[in-house]
Amino acid sequence: MSGFLEALRTSYDTVADVYAETVPAPEGLDALSRAVLDAFVEETAGAGVVADVGCGPGKVAGYLAARGVRVVGVDLSARMVEIARRTQPHLPFAVGSMTALGLRDGALAGVLAYYSTHHTPPEHLPAVYREFHRVLAPGGRLMLAGWVGAPGSEGERRRHTEAYGGLPVSYESHYLPPERITRLLQAAGLRVTATLVQEPDEGAKRFYGTFLAVRPRS
Ligand SMILES: C[S@@+](CC[C@H](N)C(=O)[O-])C[C@H]1O[C@@H](n2cnc3c(N)ncnc32)[C@H](O)[C@@H]1O
Repeated sequence: MSGFLEALRTSYDTVADVYAETVPAPEGLDALSRAVLDAFVEETAGAGVVADVGCGPGKVAGYLAARGVRVVGVDLSARMVEIARRTQPHLPFAVGSMTALGLRDGALAGVLAYYSTHHTPPEHLPAVYREFHRVLAPGGRLMLAGWVGAPGSEGERRRHTEAYGGLPVSYESHYLPPERITRLLQAAGLRVTATLVQEPDEGAKRFYGTFLAVRPRS
């Protein structure tokens, strides 16, 4: 496993319990973020299996499943997966990496990457996005949401040594500008159908973005 994945796994194992206790389920999100998630639900419910990649403690997977989506969760962190299995015992979760999902080509009706791709170094993102394209069936939907750089900026890279109330971690976050994420998704063969960039919350400086894309049918 690449060094960055190993460091991410150890870090998220360390913070998993506090993360699960403190990060709200989608019901606690702002109305717009929930609305986009609900649109993804509407597009994928009943269409086939959806993978929540980087599912963390499984709250988002639980939200999708409660609304009729057939969801499986995958996360690098064994501790996150343990919590997800305990709190969402009706759903399947597996330890794995979005860099190489153990799924056959075209297996999925949808891929959701919710605040889980910003730790991937930019040079590895093309392979991750190609992996999303590979596992999606033609016509399958991708929703990618997370922190981004300011539109039109160069983006930003940050090294973290502690997180979630001072717990020790060792990883980087890469806040790419939304236009760059769109270009990389397109280069992976996906058709980006919508991009939503949300301004930083009051007192914060981080933009967040949502990208909806489809694997073209031909
Ligand atoms: C900020 S948390 C988000 C968790 C969840 N999606 C949520 O919204 O609550 C990021 C998660 O992505 C996972 N992750 C990061 N890189 C990953 C990779 N390459 N493959 C699978 N999971 C990954 C981490 O282990 C962590 O659980």
